[in-house]
Amino acid sequence: MKKTEILSSPVPRLIDRYRRHLNYLRVSITDRCDLRCLYCKPDGLIPKLSHEDVLTYEEILRLIRIAVSLGITKVRITGGEPLVRQGVCDFLSQLCRIDGITDVSLTTNGFQLAKYLPRLKDAGVHRLNISLDTLDPEKYRKITGVDGFRQVWSAIELARELGFSPIKINAVALKGYNDDELVDMARLSISQPFHIRFIEYMPIGTANMRKGDYLHTADIKRRLAELGPLLPVKRGTLDGPAERFRFAGAEGEVGFISAMSNHFCDACNRLRLSASGKLRSCLMSDKQKDLRPVLRQGGSDEDLVRVFLASVHAKPARHHLTDPKGTRVNSQMSSIGG
Ligand code: GTP
Ligand code: 5AD
Ligand code: SF4
Repeated sequence: MKKTEILSSPVPRLIDRYRRHLNYLRVSITDRCDLRCLYCKPDGLIPKLSHEDVLTYEEILRLIRIAVSLGITKVRITGGEPLVRQGVCDFLSQLCRIDGITDVSLTTNGFQLAKYLPRLKDAGVHRLNISLDTLDPEKYRKITGVDGFRQVWSAIELARELGFSPIKINAVALKGYNDDELVDMARLSISQPFHIRFIEYMPIGTANMRKGDYLHTADIKRRLAELGPLLPVKRGTLDGPAERFRFAGAEGEVGFISAMSNHFCDACNRLRLSASGKLRSCLMSDKQKDLRPVLRQGGSDEDLVRVFLASVHAKPARHHLTDPKGTRVNSQMSSIGG
């Protein structure tokens, strides 16, 4: 669809040049984080956004309302770590009350999650994605830089008791770090209602895992074969990039996010808003449009709509990380929010 066609349609919609309908907005509310995951960012190298650089909650809510008027129905809040930003629960309750949003979810590292769970529930957030790459406290410390395994695990158990559903557990699979535990992690999905998702590492920002550390989905699936066949689960309307499976009789699921070995760009339905107001139409492309100057220099809703449409128009067909001469993504995962 040509940009002029989009702009002149009576109700502009977020449809890109490849006819993908974008209905999912991932919003990073902070680039700060209380962990230092190896695959996300090395310690100390990255300057943090200053307080003035970060959009206020009012500014974010205004942008989300505009995005909803353009067809966004699903919103995921990310970081850095979203729970380190003050006032996040009040923000989430306002977000959950916006008409037209049918799904609000949160991606968190789980470290401070336990104390927020009751308020998250009251706010109307039911879907949680929690990062946990290992079941071994010492390995957890090595991967994240923090002695936090037990705290995160207690939060996951409490979330289950409080009825959050689904609870998705994100594990970036890395040789030499957690590959000896993949079967144990997948086994958790048999006795517990968790969705354990194995994620291929994406080389983004200054995180610098060695090529030899990468594990592809095909390798992971081979290792899980000892637990029985992986039975495909029918996809739902809220599904993201994960391929979903279940072991026979299991309470939960196993998922695979194969961004490197089998990119899912053809079906990509998402846009990303960073904490400083940059709109990014592809996780793997550094091209972004800046909404903040428009917001702060008195821009109208229509001016903001134009930036959304321009960003969607610029959405690439697919990422090029795996091309032989593929470009590197310079932005940090912690500022994009995954
Ligand atoms: P739901 O399916 O809504 O539960 O969310 P999700 O799995 O997309 O979100 P989550 O924040 O849990 O992200 C899990 C992993 O998927 C992270 O490593 C993200 O970076 C990755 N991911 C999410 N969206 C995309 C995308 O559009 N492209 C790529 N390549 N990776 C993505
Ligand atoms: N590659 C793949 N996944 C990553 N995440 C963070 N950095 C990377 C990376 N380089 C995951 C985290 C979190 C989600 C938002 O993104 O594990 O679960
Ligand atoms: Fe923090 Fe998430 Fe990055 Fe880990 S992956 S350092 S938890 S933002």
